[in-house]
Amino acid sequence: MSEKKLEGRKNIIEVNNLKKHFKVGKGQILKAVDGVTFSIREGETLGLVGESGCGKSTTGRAMIRLYEATEGEVIFDGMNIQRLNRKELKNFTKQAQMIFQDPYASLNPRMTVGDIIGEGMDIHGLRKGKERMAKIYELLEIVGLNREHASRFPHEFSGGQRQRIGIARALSVEPKFIVCDEPISALDVSIQAQVVNLLEELQEEMGLTYLFIAHDLSMVKHISDRIAVMYLGAVMELTTSKVLYDEPLHPYTQALLSAIPIPDPEVERSRNRIILEGDVPSPINPPEGCKFQKRCKYVKDICREKAPELREVKPEHFVACHIVK
Ligand SMILES: Nc1ncnc2c1ncn2[C@@H]1O[C@H](COP(=O)(O)OP(=O)(O)OP(=O)(O)O)[C@@H](O)[C@H]1O
Ligand SMILES: [Mg+2]
Repeated sequence: MSEKKLEGRKNIIEVNNLKKHFKVGKGQILKAVDGVTFSIREGETLGLVGESGCGKSTTGRAMIRLYEATEGEVIFDGMNIQRLNRKELKNFTKQAQMIFQDPYASLNPRMTVGDIIGEGMDIHGLRKGKERMAKIYELLEIVGLNREHASRFPHEFSGGQRQRIGIARALSVEPKFIVCDEPISALDVSIQAQVVNLLEELQEEMGLTYLFIAHDLSMVKHISDRIAVMYLGAVMELTTSKVLYDEPLHPYTQALLSAIPIPDPEVERSRNRIILEGDVPSPINPPEGCKFQKRCKYVKDICREKAPELREVKPEHFVACHIVK
């Protein structure tokens, strides 16, 4: 686990009560993200985890303005990203990039790798001609490919190599912040660690800040400084990676962690597994009060009536739960 010193670093991005609601037929509203608040410090990796459909990608997309927020605000480097003029917006889209889950669908099959990586530089008028090609070659080498690859097409590459191309594309405009939306989930287990290591090295060399999305807690543990656990459009718990694993306080986090097998067979045998009953409720009609109340074994009356706030119960340890003291 990385032991970066993060105290005293400024926030590069702040998300305040962010909501993204989608209209989905018959006048129904789907509350994909429903009041999320957190911030990420310069050079930090914030892991964002939760089951499929809980709103992780929507949060990440709204943070870089691929989606217009329904409510709330995103502050990047002191600026509200919803209130940028054209010039500021162009500068913001250069500073905030995304790496996608599916390295097959996210690269245009008709473009050469060189043009895929160079496209951002063209859009932002950064480099032309020889300088542009030199930068493309440099980026290919940085991500562990080589310059001969520039004239090839995406189908000639493996999943892991394609993800490296996606990373080179994101880096081409020299961003400060990258949303990594499940960048390793579609890769072979043997390749996953290589891509995570590459992302960590790049972060250190270039001072990058990451939002690292995954639905499995074991995937984010290694790379994240802090982790936010999401459930049905809301953040349930947020703290350092170590504290989240050693002393999870929210019943949902405890259940997620108890589902991860422990390599030591003796510990594994005595492990207390918490089985989550029922399915995740629909974000179209989420439960009143606490979003987790339908599946929580500690549920009390107050949980059905009032949504718990994300409170700092210990230094740097935030929990949204009425039961946790
Ligand atoms: N463009 C859209 N229009 C309507 N509903 C959407 C849209 N995008 C996402 N949703 C819905 O919003 C909810 C959150 O989706 P999102 O993709 O953010 O979840 P996720 O946590 O990233 O899931 P996964 O782990 O499967 O990627 C889901 O119910 C999804 O169906
Ligand atoms: Mg997603």
